[in-house]
Amino acid sequence: MNGEFAITTHLDLLPSQRTTHESPKEEPILAINLLTGRRLRAPREALLQLLERHRLGASLRGDLAERAVHADILRPVEESQALLSPCDLLAELDRVLSRYLAQPRHLSPESILDKLDRCRQDFARRVAVPGIEDRLLHPQQPFHKVYDEESHYLWHDPQRLIETVFATVSLFVQREWTDATYPFDIEFLRLAIGRPRALLEYEQQPCLLSTTLERCRLARRDGGTGYLVLGDDDLISVALTCGPNSQARPDDVDVIELDERLLQFLAGRTLATLHSGDLTAGLPAKFHHRYTTVFTDPMYLAEGMHGFIGCCRQGLSFDRGSRVFLSTCPEQLQHPAQFWQSLAAHGLQVSRQHKAFSRYRLPQSPRQATLEGLTQIGLPAAVTSTLLSVPYLYADMFELESVVA
Ligand SMILES: C[S@@+](CC[C@H](N)C(=O)[O-])C[C@H]1O[C@@H](n2cnc3c(N)ncnc32)[C@H](O)[C@@H]1O
Repeated sequence: MNGEFAITTHLDLLPSQRTTHESPKEEPILAINLLTGRRLRAPREALLQLLERHRLGASLRGDLAERAVHADILRPVEESQALLSPCDLLAELDRVLSRYLAQPRHLSPESILDKLDRCRQDFARRVAVPGIEDRLLHPQQPFHKVYDEESHYLWHDPQRLIETVFATVSLFVQREWTDATYPFDIEFLRLAIGRPRALLEYEQQPCLLSTTLERCRLARRDGGTGYLVLGDDDLISVALTCGPNSQARPDDVDVIELDERLLQFLAGRTLATLHSGDLTAGLPAKFHHRYTTVFTDPMYLAEGMHGFIGCCRQGLSFDRGSRVFLSTCPEQLQHPAQFWQSLAAHGLQVSRQHKAFSRYRLPQSPRQATLEGLTQIGLPAAVTSTLLSVPYLYADMFELESVVA
């Protein structure tokens, strides 16, 4: 294989069990390309060194590098090579939608987006039946539900559930047509391995490793009076303080987090100051108006979102140029209109909005439940199972500033 290769932006790294043949020194890890699902198991240090060599693109040398290419961990840098190969799932989407709509196949983003729109309209017509939400909430055939009736608002509104699925798949088509590479900070990757499992009760949904680094890059600035991270399952504080060229000084970063497991994990990996706390009661006074940069990725339930926006405003300093970096998907919130009202009520305005900036891995159990739910209300599983094979959810990044009186 010729040409240069760099690390896929879709990388995840997970610890793996050592077998009896492996020496204790060879701690294995799994490198996964979340877009294509391919994976590579290799000794941790050898793999990290390989990734370091290919951070900005390098030609291939050695067996491990070749295996990393076969597992889609290293991808061709040259755009023309990447453009030729949209991932298998996009081809499958085109095949399934074309068959369902009895239309000719044509593998281009425009064609798939057009078919998605027709399919969405068709599904919306099919579920426009009075009382259909009862079939989701009280299924004739019992199925696995991850949310209870009260907590998951989308289950009360099949039309919205369908809109959400199609919006996500459409973003996937637009965003993932080419398998991009990313210049990862390897020290961050080393530190991120082995994070605690995401817990639904804390509404955790960690973003991709490349998204965390990209958020920090977006917020990079000279000067300023510090960073406040409100909830840190995304490991922002690790990315901010790692490596010799770290973006922030250790005493410049404060994290407030409820999950003790996460705090313990972060303690060995970030130089930031960690505070155990529950933000539902607001931001403690000692943190008020101290930070030029505030990061948050709040919950989607209305009450939590409103409370977190309030904490952002309380933490933000009065210095010119102070910004909140808030990640969310307004259309998918419990109360979309309330998001805008909460911003206004707390004196915040949007200075920039970056569409579909954050990628998150869609966990298996909500995916399975949604698939079963959509089948229950009569939608064809052949189509819905392909729509729900999309590996990601997306959120926009909002840069917020104080409204000047
Ligand atoms: C709110 S969750 C992320 C939600 C996610 N964006 C979603 O899709 O719902 C972000 C972080 O906030 C933490 N968190 C949740 N509730 C909290 C609370 N009341 N006080 C402090 N941190 C909290 C979580 O543990 C997690 O690390």
